[in-house]
Amino acid sequence: MITAGIDVGSLSTDAVVMQDDQVLAYVIINTGVKAQTAAGRAFGQALEQAGLTEGDVDAVIATGYGRMSVPFANSQVTEISCHGRGAAFFSPDVRTIIDIGGQDSKVIRVDAQGNVVDFLMNDKCAAGTGRFLEVMAQRLELGIEQLGQEDLQAGRAAQISSMCTVFAESEVVSLIAQGVPRPEIVRGLHHSIAERTAGLANRLGLANGVMMTGGVAKNQGVVRALSEQLGAKIAVPPEPQIVGALGAALIARRKHAQQSE
Ligand SMILES: Nc1ncnc2c1ncn2[C@@H]1O[C@H](COP(=O)(O)OP(=O)(O)OP(=O)(O)O)[C@@H](O)[C@H]1O
Ligand SMILES: [Mg+2]
Repeated sequence: MITAGIDVGSLSTDAVVMQDDQVLAYVIINTGVKAQTAAGRAFGQALEQAGLTEGDVDAVIATGYGRMSVPFANSQVTEISCHGRGAAFFSPDVRTIIDIGGQDSKVIRVDAQGNVVDFLMNDKCAAGTGRFLEVMAQRLELGIEQLGQEDLQAGRAAQISSMCTVFAESEVVSLIAQGVPRPEIVRGLHHSIAERTAGLANRLGLANGVMMTGGVAKNQGVVRALSEQLGAKIAVPPEPQIVGALGAALIARRKHAQQSE
């Protein structure tokens, strides 16, 4: 059975095309201002990569904040369920998922099948999210993908005391002016995100078997800082940014199989 999952996030739109348990193709593009356009483009590109056309696909599920803007989807499922199912696909031992995306962060507890048991979410402000890191990377004249490497050069972490993005940015500006080495500032920012996320995780209660998903999991500095804060090992799947879309494609298969029974 061929299924697809489309995750229309605040920053990235991700599409995954699967044949049963196998990923045939995936695409990550910027969401931009029109969710519907991004969804269509990501799906089209993923189909092209897989050498398929829309008619070959048995079921499509949309997820993410823009999931209602995907006219070609058969149904919509929340990101929480999709990240749960997607993470379980990578490892059946996962019980706690930490998803940090562009706009929010979530901690999700799942059972062995990837069914959601409980979750907590921070979507009140940019602090502790990918957006926070994007603002700071720009201020530090670094690409978002360079932050992890920069962190590795640090001997210690600079103190960033404000949790608010706007105030933290001012702190970064004064740290630069004081001549604090850039890697130390980067590590300080990663510590700040880790502290905030660990607070959320500890409120929910951490179960062993932790996996990080979402684009920020590509930043090894954040993963390390969070692992230290939690005192737990954190697994990162090969492409953490597509876990939501992958979970959607897997849920599409289960739903479609039930319908055709
Ligand atoms: N190569 C990379 N290295 C490090 N960080 C990255 C990389 N690519 C993306 N990111 C981070 O991932 C974030 C986007 O994550 P993601 O695509 O999961 O968000 P989203 O799903 O669009 O947002 P949300 O789930 O909040 O709606 C960016 O803000 C950035 O911080
Ligand atoms: Mg997301």
